[in-house]
Amino acid sequence: MRELIVAIDGPSGAGKSTLSRRLAKELGYVNINTGALYRTVALAATRKMVDLTDEAALGRLAREIIIEFVRPETGERVIFDGEDVSEAIRTPEISCLTSRISAYPEVRRALNELQRKLGSQGGVVLEGRDIGTVVFPQAEVKFFLSASAEERGRRRNDELKARGILVELEKTIAAVEARDAADSAREHAPLTQAADAMVIDSTAMSIEEVLQKMVTVVQQRRRLAGLAEPVMELGR
Ligand code: DC
Repeated sequence: MRELIVAIDGPSGAGKSTLSRRLAKELGYVNINTGALYRTVALAATRKMVDLTDEAALGRLAREIIIEFVRPETGERVIFDGEDVSEAIRTPEISCLTSRISAYPEVRRALNELQRKLGSQGGVVLEGRDIGTVVFPQAEVKFFLSASAEERGRRRNDELKARGILVELEKTIAAVEARDAADSAREHAPLTQAADAMVIDSTAMSIEEVLQKMVTVVQQRRRLAGLAEPVMELGR
């Protein structure tokens, strides 16, 4: 029996990245941040001067691109073309471009294949927008993480501030709402909740509270699947 596939979907700023990373660490699973894949394609397109309206060219780029995740003690880094692009892919401009290029089915097809290659062995936590609905509809555990737009804007602003990028809160909230609307309204793989996903509203919850809830659900599911207790619980 293989270890589980855990999907965490939801809008931007709901806490997916932090929780996905923490949950993976807690379970000894591999964390796959799929937004980083879309973001790196957007960054590569601007650097290689690919026409952002040329779907076929963007699809080719997404199929050929080599993206590496490295995990030093200091946190996860994203490497593209030998360069650490972890910060470069998170500017507001790239966020906006990513939302545009991720609407193309050719781009999504290429990145879906890549995600399935990375995750099908199990023992993974994937976070994104369509993991539980499109990429891994057979995932054993699905979470849909949400929070109010105001709270998500505040969190995104804090993240940007930590990187030295200062943006007015109202602008960030408006950008979060605009991106949600675009991600939800797009024709292909819009942001939707899987019918069998557990919805967690994190607006008034701490990271630790959400994490505990997630760990409990995954461990229950592991037991149901007949998987051995995780290493961290063996000593109890
Ligand atoms: O999670 P994030 O904010 O890093 O995602 C960046 C953009 O990529 C977001 O606008 C939606 C898109 N995305 C997607 O369409 N599908 C995914 N699985 C992950 C991200």
